[in-house]
Amino acid sequence: MSVEVGGRFKCLPRFQLETIVLVLLISPSLINGAKCILFNFGDSNSDTGGLMAGLGLYLGPPAGRQFFHRTTGRFCDGRLYIDFLCEGLKIKFLSPYLESSGSDYTNGVNFAVAGTATEANVIPFPLSTQVLQFLHFKNRTRELFPQGSGSMISEKGFQNAVYSFDMGQNDIATPFNANSSYSQVIKTIPAVLSRIKDAILNVYNNGGKKFLIYNTGPLGCLPQKLALQQQIYSELDAYGCLAAHNNASKAFNTGLSVLLDQLNSQYTNATFVYVDIFRIKYDLIANNTKYGIDNPLMACCGFGGPPYNYVFRKTCGEPNVQPCSDASRYLSWDGVHNTEAANSIIASRILSGKYSKPPIKLQTLCKA
Ligand SMILES: *[C@@H]1O[C@H](CO)[C@@H](O)[C@H](O)[C@H]1NC(C)=O
Ligand SMILES: *[C@@H]1O[C@H](CO)[C@@H](O)[C@H](O)[C@H]1NC(C)=O
Ligand SMILES: *[C@@H]1O[C@H](CO)[C@@H](O)[C@H](O)[C@H]1NC(C)=O
Ligand SMILES: *[C@@H]1O[C@H](CO)[C@@H](O)[C@H](O)[C@H]1NC(C)=O
Ligand SMILES: *[C@@H]1O[C@H](CO)[C@@H](O)[C@H](O)[C@H]1NC(C)=O
Repeated sequence: MSVEVGGRFKCLPRFQLETIVLVLLISPSLINGAKCILFNFGDSNSDTGGLMAGLGLYLGPPAGRQFFHRTTGRFCDGRLYIDFLCEGLKIKFLSPYLESSGSDYTNGVNFAVAGTATEANVIPFPLSTQVLQFLHFKNRTRELFPQGSGSMISEKGFQNAVYSFDMGQNDIATPFNANSSYSQVIKTIPAVLSRIKDAILNVYNNGGKKFLIYNTGPLGCLPQKLALQQQIYSELDAYGCLAAHNNASKAFNTGLSVLLDQLNSQYTNATFVYVDIFRIKYDLIANNTKYGIDNPLMACCGFGGPPYNYVFRKTCGEPNVQPCSDASRYLSWDGVHNTEAANSIIASRILSGKYSKPPIKLQTLCKA
């Protein structure tokens, strides 16, 4: 610990260094208090290996070719935005709840599972189940704590933890996949928001008080949606994305924002932070050249070439599907999920606090 502290602050003026050393000496609890504990609920955007562990599946290469240089169950060439958040918070990557080997839950748990929605679909880990898993985890931790085993997260740790939710994309995608009309899709949104509210309040009623809720990105800009659904939903927006899908994402986001305003005024001893992922991702698409991105609507790992490089049943990981050589010039890794390069930018925007309402940085929320 002292080596790390000494190293990190070695450039500070002497008086500041002494203050820090003094604080560390007189108040060791401050060190523990400063460590962020994060519990995440979500889908593939934040799944660090849950689906593969939970269903005993294998996500083969080229996923994981960046950074990890092995397959990790992340739908990405490398790190997800949540990994970059952990790096920014100086905590270890979150282990998936369902991963029985080699997991470390001392700074939180990732309950996110790819393919999930707020309601049960083909994947048996919907949002409500993920929250029940959290409650199970909390009970087990309490049981094991006196024996000095388990995650060793204290009651105070659970109370001060940040609970993040990244859900909605699959809920909105599902009716579009069934060729529902735009107005039919919109009608499903209130029920989705109500399930998200139930999930948040279930954690709140079990002692959570710091919540970070991500809105959903521009679904109509995914190469997969553009390649497969443009025949039916032909209207494109200013950047060549499917207008109906993006309008539905925006309608969901408006509803989520209103919901969180209500929760903030009703539950004044808790904080519910809304993070505008749509604005972050839409900016990457609209201003792609600024970020060194060649074609923001084309998958790196896919088949068929421009404009989207996405063909049904010839997707990333299948035989004879070649990834691009430089994924840092792409936003989309496989037609659905972002590249590590995009995730890095997305995470730095989240950490900036500029896309948050109320404008609280995650780093601050952790410490508060
Ligand atoms: C957790 O424990 C409480 C009793 O302390 C029990 O009522 C609750 O059902 C348990 N929840 C889970 C998910 O195990
Ligand atoms: C949706 O429409 C497309 C194109 O008309 C068709 O190929 C597909 O089978 C339809 N899907 C469903 C679920 O009805
Ligand atoms: C918030 O306030 C409610 C009602 O006063 C109380 O029941 C609950 O325990 C408080 N929660 C926290 C995390 O302090
Ligand atoms: C999407 O929203 C824009 C702006 O409100 C509107 O002009 C357009 O007609 C909508 N398109 C669809 C398909 O919903
Ligand atoms: C593109 O960048 C400009 C300049 O930073 C910004 O004003 C604009 O909102 C961005 N476009 C989108 C769609 O985010």
